[in-house]
Amino acid sequence: STGPLRDRFGRTVRDLRVSVTDRCNLRCTYCMPAEGLDWLGSESLLSTAELIRVITVAVRDLGIETIRFTGGEPLLRRDLEDLIGAVSSLPSHPEIALTTNGLGLTHRIDGLVAAGLRRINVSLDTVDPARFAEITRRDRLHDVIDGLAAARGAGVHPIKVNAVAADHSDLDRLPDLLGFCLEHGYQLRIIEQMPLDADHRWDRSSMVTADEILAALHRRYRLLPDPRPRGSAPATTWLVDGHLVDGEPARVGVIASVTRPFCGDCDRARLTADGALRNCLFAESETDLRPLLRSGLSDDELDAAIAERWRGNAWVKAPGHGVNRPDFHQPTRPMSAIGG
Ligand code: GTP
Ligand code: 5AD
Ligand code: SF4
Repeated sequence: STGPLRDRFGRTVRDLRVSVTDRCNLRCTYCMPAEGLDWLGSESLLSTAELIRVITVAVRDLGIETIRFTGGEPLLRRDLEDLIGAVSSLPSHPEIALTTNGLGLTHRIDGLVAAGLRRINVSLDTVDPARFAEITRRDRLHDVIDGLAAARGAGVHPIKVNAVAADHSDLDRLPDLLGFCLEHGYQLRIIEQMPLDADHRWDRSSMVTADEILAALHRRYRLLPDPRPRGSAPATTWLVDGHLVDGEPARVGVIASVTRPFCGDCDRARLTADGALRNCLFAESETDLRPLLRSGLSDDELDAAIAERWRGNAWVKAPGHGVNRPDFHQPTRPMSAIGG
């Protein structure tokens, strides 16, 4: 066993984000074109057994403590419950989290929780039905709202709501979204859009910034500094004055990836649905684990191969994402093919 993956900038990987599919049943305008993308074929996807194998090595030998399943839309993978069940029964009991758009969660939540799922983040940009349909190109707001309620009913805690601030016209709707989250006990986090859209339409001058998001919330709510340490979390959080969730002060967060990057505290690695290990959302190169997995390598050899790559000189996790540099280039893979 080779031990935790530490990089030359002192960051240790604790969190492995595993994408289980590149497909999605929504078509958020900031993510995918209306017609979808060229989906991976089934032979390119890691099988459930292959995913379990990589995760087992990561948890047993490489210091990974949290596994977050993402996509695309991870609920489109029918065997997600089996995957979660296998990972949650590993001896070190890694924390298991899910990032989902919430569609179909109503029917799956009991099985997911029984398998060992502990934390859920649901993407929901607005509670205005017309605007939801415009952003996602699907009329499914109520499915998402029902999915959230089902997660709460199943005792999942915390439940976070991820909202991308897609357009300046969305600023006026943010207080309503916060009101909805406070009412139901979800922790809202509003996200600055990053240049990871398939169409490469992201543009700095039209991006909604964290400062604009906070100003919009302040029009209805008083936000107080959160005394809780932030650690390696992407969100900066505030307490919402006068509001409680489950007897604790209510919180709201802003994920300011572009205007206030948190790369210096990043503790993540990513595995794409086709088996590429990535050291950053914006990495220019990756390590393809699929041929290794399909070549008859032993677990110890796999562990050693990953550790050697991570610590070596040929594949350095950059100190920052570079979005704010003049020579920035958007990665070839869009967010849905990397894993959110
Ligand atoms: P928690 O463990 O609940 O804090 O999860 P999370 O916020 O890390 O995960 P989630 O999947 O909910 O991601 C929320 C948002 O955080 C995403 O939309 C991204 O905008 C951002 N994010 C997640 N991981 C990274 C990352 O490695 N780099 C950057 N820049 N942003 C990230
Ligand atoms: N920038 C920031 N967040 C994004 N998401 C999707 N595309 C982007 C982007 N370009 C969000 C989704 C989901 C999370 C995993 O990533 O809304 O909540
Ligand atoms: Fe699907 Fe998430 Fe992309 Fe929306 S942002 S289209 S929910 S993968």
